[in-house]
Amino acid sequence: MGRVEGKVALITGGASGIGLSSATLMAREGAKVVIADFNVDSAQEAAAKIKSEGGEAVGIFLDASQEASIEEAVDFTVKQYGTLKVLFNNVGVTNLRKDLDVVNMDLDEWDRIMNVNTKSVLLGSRFAIPHMRKAGGGSIINTASMAAFAGDSVRSAYGASKAAVVNLTRYIAAQYGKDKIRCNGVAPGLILTPAAKQSMPPAVLDIFAKYNALPYHGEADDIGHTVLFLASDESKFITGQTIQVEGGHYMANPSIADFNQFLAQA
Ligand SMILES: NC(=O)c1ccc[n+]([C@@H]2O[C@H](COP(=O)([O-])OP(=O)(O)OC[C@H]3O[C@@H](n4cnc5c(N)ncnc54)[C@H](O)[C@@H]3O)[C@@H](O)[C@H]2O)c1
Repeated sequence: MGRVEGKVALITGGASGIGLSSATLMAREGAKVVIADFNVDSAQEAAAKIKSEGGEAVGIFLDASQEASIEEAVDFTVKQYGTLKVLFNNVGVTNLRKDLDVVNMDLDEWDRIMNVNTKSVLLGSRFAIPHMRKAGGGSIINTASMAAFAGDSVRSAYGASKAAVVNLTRYIAAQYGKDKIRCNGVAPGLILTPAAKQSMPPAVLDIFAKYNALPYHGEADDIGHTVLFLASDESKFITGQTIQVEGGHYMANPSIADFNQFLAQA
């Protein structure tokens, strides 16, 4: 008996990185998964791989910036597998060239990032909740980010949008708890997904390594296992929480790495 046996899960942005890991792990533990992604070819490839390993999955197109597309993905899931018990709102975007500091940031980009990162969580949940009510409950999981909990020099829209996701998670949890619908978030620190590996210069990875409490970087499965836990009934008394999975990067005195260096040299 798998940890999410028989549950039906819709995963947005499921064709790569964190979404792909979560889809794969949930399918291995008995869920039927719908992988919804802008990149439909990769979504279908991911579903085919899961099926070749004995799981149940289907890949579909999703544009999480479009309300109608989100509604279609939810409707497709219910038509395909008869119900919807787990929604992983995972799509999130930023733009390192335009999502800058407050004075210089591009306002169209602000609107786009807010729309994709925050409104897609609202809409996914809005369309899924009636089906979860019918099913006697469900689990909504949102991908936030550690950018929600600290200020930074750039990515103002990304940080603000993810902070909104953290509190929207609480609102959904508060509003639908009596329907046995739980809503939780996961806040990754730097995770070496293929996209992150491609876009991060080695010098930036070294900065993260220096300030992580743990001596290694995070991987997609570190988030996937957390999502699997939140999707399963093992977490049935947890709601409204955002679990920080970030290698201890943000939990200590921020100067500790420099102090350690100082002490080693003293
Ligand atoms: N990787 C990290 O270090 C990190 C850290 C904190 C938070 N996150 C968050 O994790 C989530 C997943 O990130 P990832 O690193 O796995 O990224 P990724 O690029 O590996 O995967 C994201 C997937 O989302 C899809 N996608 C993008 N825009 C879409 C849209 N409008 N509609 C449908 N699909 C769309 C992409 O095609 C891709 O398959 C995001 O919300 C991101 O903000 C990532």
